[in-house]
Amino acid sequence: MNLTIDFTNLFQLMDMPDGITQNDLMDSVSLCDKANKIFSEKKSSEPLGFYDLPDKEVEHILEYVEKIKSKFDTMVVFGIGGSALGNKAVYSALKAQKTLKKLFVYDNVDPYFLDDIMKAINPEKTVFNVITKSGTTAETMASFMFVIDYLKKTFPKDYKDRLITTTDKEKGFLRKLIKDEGFQDFIVPDDVGGRFSVLTDVGLVSSAFVGIDIKAMLKGASDMRKHCDEKDLLKNPAMIIALSHILYKTKNISVMMPYSNPLYDLSDWYRQLWAESLGKRYDLQGDEVFCGQTPVQALGATDQHSQVQLYTEGPKDKIFTLIMVENYTKDFIIPEVYTDRQEVNYLCKKTFSQLLNAECIATEYALTQAGRPNMMIKFSEINEENIGAFIYLYEAATVYAGYMLNINPLDQPGVEAGKIATYALMDKEGFEKQKNEINQYLNKKKESGNILCLN
Ligand code: PA5
Repeated sequence: MNLTIDFTNLFQLMDMPDGITQNDLMDSVSLCDKANKIFSEKKSSEPLGFYDLPDKEVEHILEYVEKIKSKFDTMVVFGIGGSALGNKAVYSALKAQKTLKKLFVYDNVDPYFLDDIMKAINPEKTVFNVITKSGTTAETMASFMFVIDYLKKTFPKDYKDRLITTTDKEKGFLRKLIKDEGFQDFIVPDDVGGRFSVLTDVGLVSSAFVGIDIKAMLKGASDMRKHCDEKDLLKNPAMIIALSHILYKTKNISVMMPYSNPLYDLSDWYRQLWAESLGKRYDLQGDEVFCGQTPVQALGATDQHSQVQLYTEGPKDKIFTLIMVENYTKDFIIPEVYTDRQEVNYLCKKTFSQLLNAECIATEYALTQAGRPNMMIKFSEINEENIGAFIYLYEAATVYAGYMLNINPLDQPGVEAGKIATYALMDKEGFEKQKNEINQYLNKKKESGNILCLN
């Protein structure tokens, strides 16, 4: 694992009246102690099982993948939220480095999106992996019903060999079906929440299938865990990330901006982790707090021409994490053309990665000059260990932040509310009362006269 984290510009900003200092961090050490205490009491048990994941055996995954690898060259994952974003993030990051088998992640119920995937695959060579911890989520169950019907009709003899299911070991409707019908199954541990589950069977089966070294990913996570267990605050990167993001009380928005296309989906994974874990109405005592920082995903250098104007001159409500890749295994040299034209000749013989990284530093400098707190994470290169380390770092930082904020970072009552409303709207038995309430709301809207139908 080789990540460098530069926190300098969180603290030493030139023109920043509301800037925090390292002393402010140290003055808040009691918050860290509190977070540490809760973390230590709970870790390795429900619901902080993610702490132990780097030590878990993965032989059952590797054996399974070995068995199916000659038959299939593509996997389609059906899942949503924590049962999909990690799979996508790891695959996007590493497929730039290695020749991998194909992975599609269908994490919606958009018919056009499904059609695109079904058109892109060779069904004969594709294995489907339905992932849902609860085993009941409407989007994923709809996909499951689609795929089981499709497989039974297309491959009546061996349809079961083309389907993997990943769910809780006891609970949920999908588990019942697995017991009844004997589908190949993997397990989402009950002590690991959805968005913390990428280093379980949830994310590791698809990763191992495509050819990613999952043991190296876990090694990276394990190495990072040592740092995130550090008692000395200034040596613990997860604590510094959590505390700095909390101490900037006026920064309601946290922008993560990798200067790297392969790492863009990793910032999408972070977006869910930070939002769903920290956006909470009630604190641990049940008082209303309405807390949370809005995570925003941006891409360098692309968004320099779309967002950075706002970031440097707009409201001072943001804190930034820039991500840079130091070494590229593939690169392009800008050719020596137009050498006599000073408008472009400075680019000759430079590499694309050199230009990209110069732009990353340029943005860091511009943000700092504009008094915007920012930190930089440098990946020595994009590889399994660094990806695993990054994942663990942000899982730990999120949990620390939650406990510093005195909220529960592991639940998601707001997501559950949306799931219930969907069941009601789709006429699920037992949700008649909610359906009635929603219909009243829809009627009120109609009567309000605020809807313009334009032809
Ligand atoms: O992090 C979470 O808990 C959620 O985002 C879930 O992963 C998401 O709602 C999907 O749930 P499930 O895996 O039960 O289908």
